[in-house]
Amino acid sequence: MSKSIAAGRLKLSLGNLESLPAMPEIARRLLMLPLDTESGEKQMIALVEKDPQISARVIGLANSSAMGSQRQIKGIRDAAMLLGMQRLKSVALGIATMSAMLKQPAGKYFDPHDFWTHSMTIAIVMHAIAGAMPKRIRPDENLIFLAGLLHDIGLAALHHLDYEASEELHHQMCLNPKAPIPEVETELLGVTHAEIGAQLVRHWNLPAEIADVVGSHHSPPTGKEAYANPLIRLVSIAERLLPDFGFAEHTFGPVFDDEWRELCIDSTRVDEIVAIANELALQVVQLPEVQHETVQEVQAHEEALLEAAPKAQDTDLPVTRGRFAALLYAVKRIAASLKFW
Ligand SMILES: [Fe+2]
Ligand SMILES: [Fe+2]
Repeated sequence: MSKSIAAGRLKLSLGNLESLPAMPEIARRLLMLPLDTESGEKQMIALVEKDPQISARVIGLANSSAMGSQRQIKGIRDAAMLLGMQRLKSVALGIATMSAMLKQPAGKYFDPHDFWTHSMTIAIVMHAIAGAMPKRIRPDENLIFLAGLLHDIGLAALHHLDYEASEELHHQMCLNPKAPIPEVETELLGVTHAEIGAQLVRHWNLPAEIADVVGSHHSPPTGKEAYANPLIRLVSIAERLLPDFGFAEHTFGPVFDDEWRELCIDSTRVDEIVAIANELALQVVQLPEVQHETVQEVQAHEEALLEAAPKAQDTDLPVTRGRFAALLYAVKRIAASLKFW
């Protein structure tokens, strides 16, 4: 594919906000739900429970030892108790928006599963680093997760908007093992995943702090500006502690003392933080193997299966269309529970 075609095509789609993917319905509803009432909380749990992919990922996250769970989390209600309603909301929101962007199949060079692993791990490691910050300057925990999950949403959006350009980008990253991703993107596409992602996040009216993280995570501000949004530094440090974890962005490089100081983290704690980050990353990759196709297969056949199920008035059979839908839903839940990440 010619570079100019890829760049032209992308600019066209980015210039036209209408061509950007709409915010998924479930994410929109999650954003609107008030959590200061019991009924708002109930509605949120019901909303998350209804989506097997989102609930499976939330339960997977809640079961990771990084979340400090002492027992096995089996359902969304348990996860809500452990994470708290606000964090459950932001995790579900991050997962819902990312899932919408990752509907395209894996390519030769970009695999949505690896992308998930990367995004989840960065979110968890950011949370661990933030734990070493003094409480008075620590960012809102809910935003930490959302920022970590969505920091690379521009890459997912690129895969969604232009599969060929996405594949070519990740191919070029393999061919240029030392080039940082913004350099390769600018050369190949004329736009970076940080710019694409920030535009999308703004288009969806997500918090401004998240748009800043997405737009600046490869070039964090310095000087006084650096203190305005510590989430950007948290992503940037987490990416260098685990360079190319999941997929290649070539984020190699030292974390300087000034950067730890910016977060008010004592440099004597750095070795401990690095060890924790590596341990957490290991835990993420050791989580139960994903059964990738199961949920998608069930969903792909859902319509046909429902169509084939008899209507109540046509049959004496105990399994009518309504009950069949319920059974199908149960199968999806079971399939999703096998799919932790
Ligand atoms: Fe990135
Ligand atoms: Fe990243």
